[in-house]
Amino acid sequence: MLAGKRILLIIGGGIAAFKSLDLIRRLRERGATVTPVLTRAAEEFVTPLSTSALAAEKVYRDLFDLTDESEMGHIELSRAADLVVVAPATADLMAKMAHGHANDLASTVLMATDKRVLIAPAMNVRMWEHAATQRNLATLLGDGVLVAGPNKGDMACGEYGPGRMAEPLEIVTAIEAAMMDGPLKGRHVLVTSGPTHEPIDPVRYIANRSSGAQGTAIARALTALGAQVTFVTGPASIPAPAGVSVIRVQTARQMLEAVQGALPADAAVFAAAVADWRMAEDQPRKIKKDGSGKVPTLKFAENPDILATVSQMKKGRPALVVGFAAETDDVIAHATAKRARKGCDWIVANDVSPETGIMGGSENAVTVISAQGADEWPRMGKDQVAARLAAKIAGALA
Ligand code: CTP
Repeated sequence: MLAGKRILLIIGGGIAAFKSLDLIRRLRERGATVTPVLTRAAEEFVTPLSTSALAAEKVYRDLFDLTDESEMGHIELSRAADLVVVAPATADLMAKMAHGHANDLASTVLMATDKRVLIAPAMNVRMWEHAATQRNLATLLGDGVLVAGPNKGDMACGEYGPGRMAEPLEIVTAIEAAMMDGPLKGRHVLVTSGPTHEPIDPVRYIANRSSGAQGTAIARALTALGAQVTFVTGPASIPAPAGVSVIRVQTARQMLEAVQGALPADAAVFAAAVADWRMAEDQPRKIKKDGSGKVPTLKFAENPDILATVSQMKKGRPALVVGFAAETDDVIAHATAKRARKGCDWIVANDVSPETGIMGGSENAVTVISAQGADEWPRMGKDQVAARLAAKIAGALA
């Protein structure tokens, strides 16, 4: 699977760097070419000579090495690979990546690359659990960076916990998975996400509390399986994922227009929390208090139902249309009725009653309603729900 593949391996400065020498051997055994880049700190742990000997390649070390720039510049170096692997990815390297620093060869290559990046973090357990590292990790995942490990166990510093670099063979497996053509390669999937904002007047609007977390996770999971994703998002509080075509909208009507413009698609997932109503009339001026104590009466009109519109298209309907339902009681009965009413293929129903803690939380417990009945999934992280849904979509389109 790795025969003929080119891996750019950035070795960071941590005690786990010695395992990266074994990683080079394992990759070469499988037919890959490994071009190593050492950070200054890495040279405290492994030597350029041993790295170069194992890789049977020149080792790159310095951004300003003129010989390297004339032979192969840092831009070319970053693009010539099929995959960029950072092992060990230290807390410092992760911070640089998350913040876009480019002050040495490794960080510059990471900024310049147009290839996927896989990191194998390794650091002391407290450094791994530090809020800053976890923030940086979330940023990197959001940027589409793949992560292998870290593992739990005894650490060189004498402590115990997560922070040990994944073993070389585990990293090889992650590299092989990253190189595979996903089952959704060549498929176009449309995802709606986030809330919509419906203006009351030029300064006020009606909104809801959707963060866009579940829709974003689904778009990312579909991308990871090779899909080309069009991501139509309302004003969400979390950033859109990397590697998707993003269309930003404010209102339900704009979302419908964007969705229709993005078709055809093989599948469409409607995860947006679309406002059911908008103001009946456009209000070009700010509504003013007139001092009399009279309060304005807002008149509403119903918004178009985007999910129902697409589900009921006579021509050009995506082969698979997936909707969501947020319910507080009789989840299965309500969601089953909603599926029939809207005409979609699946409804992903979740119980959002306050005692579940799902609304605004990081976990979700869903039941997928299809023509075959109700399939109840155990409670799991929103990323896991997304991965499982993406895999189910891939299965249905296969
Ligand atoms: N939806 C849509 N366009 C709308 C309203 C909803 O595309 N104008 C989609 C949502 O993205 C979601 C599903 O329809 O996939 C939710 O349906 P909805 O009828 O809004 O159900 P709930 O939000 O669950 O609320 P209710 O129980 O009030 O029907």
